[in-house]
Amino acid sequence: MKVIKVTDQFEGAKVAFDMIQEAMKQNIKTLGLATGSTPEALYKEMVESDVDFSHMTSVNLDEYVGLGSDDPQSYHYFMREHLFNKKPFKETFLPNGLATDAKKECERYDAILESHPIDIQILGIGENGHIGFNEPGSSFDGKTSEVNLTESTIEANSRNFSDISEVPTKAYSMGIGSIMQANKIILLAYGTKKAEAIYQTIKGPITELVPASALQVHPDVTIIVDEEAGSKL
Ligand code: GLP
Repeated sequence: MKVIKVTDQFEGAKVAFDMIQEAMKQNIKTLGLATGSTPEALYKEMVESDVDFSHMTSVNLDEYVGLGSDDPQSYHYFMREHLFNKKPFKETFLPNGLATDAKKECERYDAILESHPIDIQILGIGENGHIGFNEPGSSFDGKTSEVNLTESTIEANSRNFSDISEVPTKAYSMGIGSIMQANKIILLAYGTKKAEAIYQTIKGPITELVPASALQVHPDVTIIVDEEAGSKL
């Protein structure tokens, strides 16, 4: 794992975008994208650039169960607002939060992942070390599944909702096994709240109790942290 310390999310965004552009010279086709406040600066950097993504495919990590793509809290909406409306991609994929047959939806998403191998996966990290919505205890071999969100994740994500009772309790998430299939992984983390998760991810034991610790055995992972998130390293 390579760790890069940056001064803030804006420098982190530049470093990550440089890596993406470098890889794009090799004719990569598919970006794995993430939501949350962490990648916002990266998407801004992409939007403000003159780089064309209209030949690229994107596959997102996750979506809340129960939220349609027009719901402002949905990850579909987030991605359109922060990236796709301003930088069109050839095709973009996210799980369908309104799918009622969870098994079918997970199979549909796994088939998408199979036909669109991810060249670069962008990740944020939850305060409990989750990646995508793979909560502690998730199998390292996991494929797409419907997951129950933990209390701590519901609480952390409630800042984006007007009331905690509105936060969905379930999500469809790409599994850790699928994330690990990505050719290259860039994980971004900013702020003191992420410091313990980053420490456990990099220096802790490889354990399903810390989902991001799976990345220790991936051959090409770059972790970009600011001073606070990297403060325990
Ligand atoms: C959610 C997302 C994750 C994200 C995490 C952290 O749980 N499913 O992909 O990494 O939030 O969000 P933030 O970047 O806002 O701290």
